[in-house]
Amino acid sequence: MAKFAVFGHPVAHSKSPWIHQQFAQQFALQLEYQALELPLEGFAQAALQCFTQHDFLGANVTVPFKEQAFALCQQLTPEAQAAGAVNTLVRQPEGLLGHNTDGLGLVADLEHNCGLVLAGKRILLLGAGGAVRGVIGPLLAAGAQLVLSNRTLAKAEQLAQQMSAFAPQAGSIQALPLEALGSGYDYIINGTSASLSGQAMALDPLAWQGVQASYDMMYGPGLTAFNQQAQAAGVAQQFDGLGMLVEQAALAFACWWQRQPQTQQVLQQLRQQLG
Ligand code: ATR
Repeated sequence: MAKFAVFGHPVAHSKSPWIHQQFAQQFALQLEYQALELPLEGFAQAALQCFTQHDFLGANVTVPFKEQAFALCQQLTPEAQAAGAVNTLVRQPEGLLGHNTDGLGLVADLEHNCGLVLAGKRILLLGAGGAVRGVIGPLLAAGAQLVLSNRTLAKAEQLAQQMSAFAPQAGSIQALPLEALGSGYDYIINGTSASLSGQAMALDPLAWQGVQASYDMMYGPGLTAFNQQAQAAGVAQQFDGLGMLVEQAALAFACWWQRQPQTQQVLQQLRQQLG
C-alpha cells in the first residue's frame, strides 16, 4: 500500500492522517498515512530512513522540522525556496522534492472558503516567525500589499527586507511597529502564537479601523483570543486557520496523487469535531 506520514514532534494531535484518509476516499485510493514523532536530534536520518528503507512515497512535515526538511531536499519548489521551509516531501527518482503548501493553502482558504479578494488589498500580518515567513511569498504573488509587525520589531524588519526579493513591486512589503500601525488595512492576519496562551495583541487601536476581516492562523473551538479581540474592535468577519490546515493538506495530496480533492465537506466535518 502507498505509504505516507506527517513528521513532527509532538505530532500525536495531528489531524493530517484523518484528512488524507478523507481525501483518499474521494478517489477510492488506498493509502497508509501515519503521524510519526521523529527524534529532536537526528531528524534527517530518521526521515531519510522512511524513504530509503520503508518505501514512503511522501510526507508532510510540521513543527519543529520544516527548516530541517528544507535542508534535506535535492530539489525545491519556488514556494519552498521563499519560505526557507518545507512542509511537503515528495519522493522522486532523482531524490526528494521539497514543497511548501502552507502559504498556498492560506491563499486558497482566504479566496475560496472565506470569499476574500486579495489582489490590491492591504494586509497587516502579525508575527515574524516560521509561520509568517511561510505565507509571505504566496500572499505577495496573489497581489496583496503586506505590512509586517511583530512584538520584536527588528525581526519583522529583517523579514520584510529579506522577502522584498519576492515582491512583484517595490514597497509591496514593509514593517511597522505594533504601536504605530496607523489605519487603512483591509484584513489583519495573526501569525503569532499569542492565541495559544490566550493573550491579546498590544496593537495600535487605529489599525482596526475599517478592517473587513480578521484571520487567525491558529484555530480551536470557538473564537481564538485574537479573533475575540478583532470582534470586540468591530471587525465584521472572523476566520481561523482550520481552513488553511485543510487546504495545505489538499495541495500536498495533489502533489502526491495529481488529483485535487474537495475540501468543503472535510472542513465542515473537522469543524464539527472541534466543537
Ligand atoms: P512559528 O514558527 O510558529 O511562527 P516562532 O518562530 O516561535 O513560531 O514565532 C512565534 C511568533 O509569535 C513570533 O513572532 C513571536 O513574537 P517575538 O518574535 O517577539 O517573540 C510571536 N508571539 C508569541 N507570543 C506572543 C505574544 N504573547 N504577544 C505577541 N507576539 C507573540
